Amino acid sequence: MKKKIKNKVLVIHGPNLHLLGTREPTVYGNYTLKEINATLKEKAAQYGITIDIMQSNSESDIVDRITKGAHDILIINPAAYTHTSVAIRDAILAIGKPVIEVHLSNIYTREDFRKKSLVSDVAVGVITGFGATSYLLALDAAVSILSKPLSQA
Ligand code: DQA
Repeated sequence: MKKKIKNKVLVIHGPNLHLLGTREPTVYGNYTLKEINATLKEKAAQYGITIDIMQSNSESDIVDRITKGAHDILIINPAAYTHTSVAIRDAILAIGKPVIEVHLSNIYTREDFRKKSLVSDVAVGVITGFGATSYLLALDAAVSILSKPLSQA
């Protein structure tokens, strides 16, 4: 039987991810953000955990949400901000809560500018290249991190 945990997971989708389903489907797949979010919520309910999900095209909204600190673990696809945002990196460091970085595409097989992430080295780990499944793997990882002390993970 799976252990129920009470913690709150925050999922943040960065810029242009509201266009999933129609945005470069050969790169990002055919699932819409609504479908991905519905699957995440279903899976979170099975785990018995609270999940909050937001999408924003605005770096400042993302920083505001992270620094509210109303979460125990953050799953974030910073999208284009992955490669540019010192502000998001600093917000993550300021709050000091565990972060899992997610990408639909494998950023290491794409253009050189996508191979650099300002988030990866302040994240617990990175899941990249599994399409919509990247988010579900991240939720599994989040539950695993929340279920036991990091030192034993
Ligand atoms: C992305 C990869 C980024 O390079 C890109 O800017 C995105 C999406 C991904 O999920 O594969 O918008 O984060």
